[in-house]
Amino acid sequence: MTTLVIGGAGYIGSHVVRLLQERGDKVIVVDDLSTGFASRIGDAELLELDVTRPDAAEKMAFAMRKSGADSVIHFAAHKQVGESVAEPMMYWHDNIAGLANVISAARTAEVKKVVFSSSAAVYGMPDVELVEETLDPKPINPYGATKYVGEWMLADAERAYGMRTAGLRYFNVAGAGWPELADTMVMNLVPIILDALEKGKAPIVFGDDYPTPDGTCIRDYVHVLDLAHAHLAALDYLDRDERAHRVFNVGTGKGSSVLEVIEAIARVKGIEIKPEIGPRRAGDPARLICATSRIEEEMGWKSDKTLDDIVRSAVEAR
Ligand SMILES: NC(=O)c1ccc[n+]([C@@H]2O[C@H](COP(=O)([O-])OP(=O)(O)OC[C@H]3O[C@@H](n4cnc5c(N)ncnc54)[C@H](O)[C@@H]3O)[C@@H](O)[C@H]2O)c1
Repeated sequence: MTTLVIGGAGYIGSHVVRLLQERGDKVIVVDDLSTGFASRIGDAELLELDVTRPDAAEKMAFAMRKSGADSVIHFAAHKQVGESVAEPMMYWHDNIAGLANVISAARTAEVKKVVFSSSAAVYGMPDVELVEETLDPKPINPYGATKYVGEWMLADAERAYGMRTAGLRYFNVAGAGWPELADTMVMNLVPIILDALEKGKAPIVFGDDYPTPDGTCIRDYVHVLDLAHAHLAALDYLDRDERAHRVFNVGTGKGSSVLEVIEAIARVKGIEIKPEIGPRRAGDPARLICATSRIEEEMGWKSDKTLDDIVRSAVEAR
């Protein structure tokens, strides 16, 4: 099997590249190294390319044909919610043009399997205990909207071009499968807390008056290595499943509050952490936990790592 991994030098993509290589698949990484690092992809071939460029579809189709690729996994995108609100056209242009080029290339090269990085951000602020894939998505920022539109694009491509596609809606990704593949950005909760501690500052909790048991927001944290395995499961699923485009939540089905994450970090590091309580941030739902039955039943994938596993791997990677 040969897979083009677009955005494979990034945090999540590089974990998938390594797992594909470990199972003996050939991997070609397409990446412009804007936020990724070539050092993350080992001896995988790198095509350095900005996938939003007008000639990117042609170049990727050439690479697919030359390598005999039979599948594509598309990670490359801008991914910061706040930035998407400030610079919406950058998100609409780049995230959509990038995916359109990937789909066009796959069509030209007759690559039939496409797996797409979607996000829990498609759901917006759902007022439910567990988020099911059947819930009507209502994204509340341009980032989430581009992911939702990306899912539509794949559904259309599947109908028109006979592709088989899957959108994976990641919940809160954290941890590291290998220290050198760790998340180097300080954007998500675990890296934000670790960064604050390393700078000798108290981590800030945005709001402790939410309707949750300890008043802080609850999220579904999934270990990046478990998430990476979900991509391999998705490729295998597309080999055997002929149904129309499907979306899958990828999470654990369990929630952890901000204070519970801070407690886990304190436990793993063997220190006491006294967070500061700040005001709420706009657009933060009180809880976001996913239902996992669809991916478990249809792909046979399940996360088996705990919050402490996630935190330990993140701490060890620094
Ligand atoms: N990290 C998370 O918590 C999270 C949660 C939900 C969804 N996602 C989605 O998962 C995907 C990967 O996220 P990540 O955390 O690994 O991000 P990342 O920034 O580490 O990886 C993205 C990779 O894509 C490359 N890239 C970006 N724009 C490109 C372009 N125009 N052309 C070619 N390469 C380009 C970057 O250089 C980088 O290597 C994104 O689509 C993101 O929206 C991430």
